[in-house]
Amino acid sequence: MEFDIADASLAEAGRKRIAWADRQMPVLAAIRERFAKETPLKGQKIAACLHVTTETANLLRTLRDGGAEVIACASNPLSTQDDVAASLVEHEGIPTFAIKGEDNESYYRHLNACLDAHPTMTMDDGCDLVSTIHQERPDQCGEMLAGSEETTTGVIRLRAMEADNALKYPIVAVNDANTKHLFDNRYGTGQSTLDGIIRATNVLIAGRTVVVGGYGYCGRGIAMRAEGFGAQVIVTEIDPLRALEAAMDGFRVMPMLEAARVGDVFVSATGDRDVLARRHFEVMRDGAILANSGHFDIEIELTALSEMAVDVREVRPSVEEYELSDGRRILVLAQGRLVNLGAAEGHPAAVMDMSFANQSLAAEWLVQNATGLEARVYDMPSEIDAEIARLKLESMGIEIDKLTPEQEEYLTSWTVGT
Ligand code: ADE
Repeated sequence: MEFDIADASLAEAGRKRIAWADRQMPVLAAIRERFAKETPLKGQKIAACLHVTTETANLLRTLRDGGAEVIACASNPLSTQDDVAASLVEHEGIPTFAIKGEDNESYYRHLNACLDAHPTMTMDDGCDLVSTIHQERPDQCGEMLAGSEETTTGVIRLRAMEADNALKYPIVAVNDANTKHLFDNRYGTGQSTLDGIIRATNVLIAGRTVVVGGYGYCGRGIAMRAEGFGAQVIVTEIDPLRALEAAMDGFRVMPMLEAARVGDVFVSATGDRDVLARRHFEVMRDGAILANSGHFDIEIELTALSEMAVDVREVRPSVEEYELSDGRRILVLAQGRLVNLGAAEGHPAAVMDMSFANQSLAAEWLVQNATGLEARVYDMPSEIDAEIARLKLESMGIEIDKLTPEQEEYLTSWTVGT
């Protein structure tokens, strides 16, 4: 078996942490148990380009128990947990190509190693597999049954491919399932981003001004949790509806250039480039902390910051200090990459439980339905989404009410008014 990991001796530590995460993933565990009996993925070879974390390991075990041959690589150069990669290879027999801190060349070498295995399905987090296949290995499109995409940025790229008539096989947008983005993007990103900032810096959040760039579900989660820690939160937006929502949720809303003058901690979560750029660095306070929670490391204009800096040094793990010519220091966390995965452990397992239940059931649904699908981006079937919500509630011991027959009738009638 071919693989590329940092250190096989970390495998035992990885196994313990994977088992710990599994305790918080009851919905995925139930799917795994059923998959082991029914093997709905038999005959498929799945290339998974995901953050190699304990939660992902439990997803990969589920796909493998479902009968698929699984090969994994990292979806971000900084997010790999090396002990998990080691355990996947040593204990699970899953070929894994992922090393924390790998450079761009290794990142794409690993991704291509997965594609050299000639998968029949792709599972992406950010669309790098799909984009590489379509641009560099187009002959392999014909070998693909289907794929799935985990994150907002990936779905945006896929929709652009679809609009260009470039997409050559069907993909399910797992991100767009309600049981994914309403929870993972909001509560997962909210908690893990604050976790990353705190682990990296150990700064007190209470009393600080935290500026959140973007008020999608990730931004909402970050703003909510920063407020919970006692920060004064400012939101910046380009979308009037989202800006209005932020204002009515009680946050101050203003352009980034104004926020840049008063913020202590800045977090970007927009999916677009240069949210924090040269003109902002020029007016920031000494000691401003910059973090990114968007998928790619493009949200902080690091090339401009490097040009402005007279010195750059690592002052703590995951914290680089850029000293500017006027003496101000700007601190960048996790090299501007996803701070929650670069400086902490990513979203907690309890929320990834739903995201990865979606991934597993998307794979099953695609195998069952792929022959009738076109080369388009598909939503998760709403019945599967609802079933995951039901199972999650059940696992949390939460019961809910049922409509009485009278209530059902009332909802379908139009004759009764005041
Ligand atoms: N994305 C965000 N958090 C994650 C995690 N813990 N595992 C895999 N992907 C993630």
